[in-house]
Amino acid sequence: MVGTITGAHMKFAITGAAGMLGTDTTQTLQRLGHDVVAWTRHDLDATDGTAAHAMITAIAPDVVVNCAAFTAVDACETDRSSAFAGNETAARNVAAACLASRSRLIHISTDYVFDGTKIEPYTETDPTNPLSVYGESKLAGETAVLETLGPDATVIRTSWLCGQHGPNMVNTVLRLVDATGPLRFVSDQRGCPTFSADLAETIELLATTQAAGIFHVTNQGAVSWYEFVAEIVAQAGGDVSRVEPIPTSALQPPRPAPRPRNSVLDNAAMRSAGLPMLDDYRLALSRLIATLQ
Ligand SMILES: NC(=O)c1ccc[n+]([C@@H]2O[C@H](COP(=O)([O-])OP(=O)(O)OC[C@H]3O[C@@H](n4cnc5c(N)ncnc54)[C@H](OP(=O)(O)O)[C@@H]3O)[C@@H](O)[C@H]2O)c1
Repeated sequence: MVGTITGAHMKFAITGAAGMLGTDTTQTLQRLGHDVVAWTRHDLDATDGTAAHAMITAIAPDVVVNCAAFTAVDACETDRSSAFAGNETAARNVAAACLASRSRLIHISTDYVFDGTKIEPYTETDPTNPLSVYGESKLAGETAVLETLGPDATVIRTSWLCGQHGPNMVNTVLRLVDATGPLRFVSDQRGCPTFSADLAETIELLATTQAAGIFHVTNQGAVSWYEFVAEIVAQAGGDVSRVEPIPTSALQPPRPAPRPRNSVLDNAAMRSAGLPMLDDYRLALSRLIATLQ
């Protein structure tokens, strides 16, 4: 549900502020004129409930954006306790502190809460069924936030995040574009590439409109990794004929964490709330390439 547009200057606190999304969110909110307190993991380790409570209640921000997460998807398979500490316990701590300080919470989650067996894009009400420990721990984080804050919490599920301030497919491919030899990427996993600078603007919009509930937020356009890489190479002026499709089963070595075949998120809740869709991913990609090249 979307409340009144405040249009006002608000006070935000960001956790995980040194990460890819945390950095863009901090910079975007500052550029839009908000007061921003940005906490890196060094400033606030959100697995520490006492520290989270003390720091959040001390400043009582209007909105906390929880960008902190244990995002090493493959490492989660063998380090279940770190995955759940970073993705469930930390989320529960931040939510409990928000409850105490009467702050709204925007919590970031993932397409990996789904198993990818659906043929069509996933809507917010589709049943979850994570394939990986990372996905399980992120789903547990969503549940913790919604249990603690009820219908006032905002959970954003996003996918295939790319940005200026962290490792991602775009900067990986830009490093390879001038080399020789084939670039082999999987063609049997589909998703919506999403750009953290664009997502940060939607975070601001969801905050200022006090939109609550679960929202799928992605750039528009669904592709396989193979198609995404071909688009990156084309936009970077490289040789697209070097990009070759392979099935996930041909990845060497195989990746420890299974990925959903279909990661495409339908932004249905955004549409029904009358909120604008993010740009086509190719436009957002061109902006990112311009900042990286
Ligand atoms: N990247 C993607 O493709 C993708 C896709 C879908 C959803 N998401 C979600 O989007 C959000 C942002 O992801 P991202 O790509 O920006 O990740 P990121 O670059 O790895 O940033 C996460 C940040 O959280 C920090 N952090 C980890 N544990 C923490 C803790 N206990 N307390 C406080 N901070 C902690 C990390 O610090 P250290 O670096 O020091 O550990 C890092 O700065 C996450 O919720 C992620 O699950 C990401």
